[in-house]
Amino acid sequence: MMQGTSMYWLGIDVGTGGTRALLLDENGKIAAGHTEAHAEIRMEKPLWAEQEPEDWWRAAQGAIRGVLRKVGADGSVVKGIGFSGQMHGLVMLDREGAVIRPSLIWCDQRSQAQVDEIHGKLGREKVVEWTANPAITGFTLPKLMWVKEHDGASYKRLKTVLLPKDYVRYRLSGELAQDVTDASGTGLFDVRKRRWSREMMKGLGLEAGWFPRAYESAEICARVSREGAEATGLREGTPMVAGAGDQAASAVGNGIVEAGVASCTLGTSGVVFAHMEEPAYDAAGRVHTFCHAVKGKWHVMGVTQGAGLSLQWFRNTLAPGMEYEALLEEAGGAEEGSDGLFWLPYLMGERTPHLDALARGGWIGLTARHGRKELIRSVVEGVTYSQRDCLDVILALGVEVKKVRASGGGARSVLWRQILADVLGRRVTTLESQEGSAYGAGLLAMAGTGGYGSVGEACRATAVEVTEVAPRGRESRYYAGRHKVYRTLYPALKRSFRLF
Ligand code: XUL
Repeated sequence: MMQGTSMYWLGIDVGTGGTRALLLDENGKIAAGHTEAHAEIRMEKPLWAEQEPEDWWRAAQGAIRGVLRKVGADGSVVKGIGFSGQMHGLVMLDREGAVIRPSLIWCDQRSQAQVDEIHGKLGREKVVEWTANPAITGFTLPKLMWVKEHDGASYKRLKTVLLPKDYVRYRLSGELAQDVTDASGTGLFDVRKRRWSREMMKGLGLEAGWFPRAYESAEICARVSREGAEATGLREGTPMVAGAGDQAASAVGNGIVEAGVASCTLGTSGVVFAHMEEPAYDAAGRVHTFCHAVKGKWHVMGVTQGAGLSLQWFRNTLAPGMEYEALLEEAGGAEEGSDGLFWLPYLMGERTPHLDALARGGWIGLTARHGRKELIRSVVEGVTYSQRDCLDVILALGVEVKKVRASGGGARSVLWRQILADVLGRRVTTLESQEGSAYGAGLLAMAGTGGYGSVGEACRATAVEVTEVAPRGRESRYYAGRHKVYRTLYPALKRSFRLF
């Protein structure tokens, strides 16, 4: 047991690569963190990506036990729990509450035919009117429709649809609940009214009872059950707030809860995220308009599917065993623009701005002169151009972005932060806490169970900027020109991607 009466709040992020648990003290400071890795994503076919919900639960138990061990405490010191998680994944439960089949996760792109079918049946405009977004392969709904068509036996047994973090909460509490930010990414949620869309469900013959109530992010929605307590060492009855999808949670962790500042999270995916007082949307659906983790507010975000994923692929395939730091140092030895080499980061298709599940990645412009340093730098630059694409669509909605807060693995690199500032043409800062989603989940728990009065208050008290890089004039102008060239590549290749 801890000495004294230290109290903590627990943030749990059910990510793609692993589940992270974080303990925050009463000042919102990080007391300890522990990550337990997930099994590799199963990619049985191109465009497919599946994980086992049971594996998330195994990792969550390990992460919770690990973090409690690190502060030398038992579960009685935890006052509240908040969740964050990879979004859009389809978890299907049967009437006994058992998982029916592996989850099709966020980057699974197999459901283009179902997207077309949904739009064909309901009308794309209606879908946008009812959910604030068109259907896309990334969202949960087309994945569900894919299962209906290709795995009818599983579909017949369906009683509950959950998102990844909500499955972990279910195992911890025995209670079914979702939150408005993550529900926004299903494609079945009326984002403006912050409730499930009856119109969508009726139009597609889905049962409203399959979708548990969606709470506001800081609302208490469940408590640790006896079984959950035995599995994790937490105390039975500890309250849990609904939490948020990883992007909204990361935004809370980054203090993006008012207008003017956007965040850029360079994780497996890369996301540019901005707060909105009212829900504006891009008619083409190139960015997502979702509920924010702040009650009664919204956010808009553009997504690069293969951000950190691009560098991870590079490392695993071409530089096995090398540390990311060493890779980025090597990239620093190449000239800006990588000697005319461009990387298209479309390793898992692309969302913003192309909304094209069939887009493919690759280098364009290779010559015999290029070496590994240019290859690495071009990967970083290509991902960053794609983040610029995201920012441009957000700006076109009239959203103001004066500066950008960077987080995620990529933001640890000074080189990448400078390239980001130059390419986005804005100051790029980082916060004292680089924890992003798990930290945001912890702050949501604090806001909902007595640590702070509100999400805004939690963010204002904890968002301390510690680094800042400014865009450099010459380099920004140079990169603006390079970005224009990059923009010509996808349209030139689009038709060929359909023949691969
Ligand atoms: C957001 C998205 C990813 C996943 C995985 O729309 O798909 O950020 O949540 O992190």
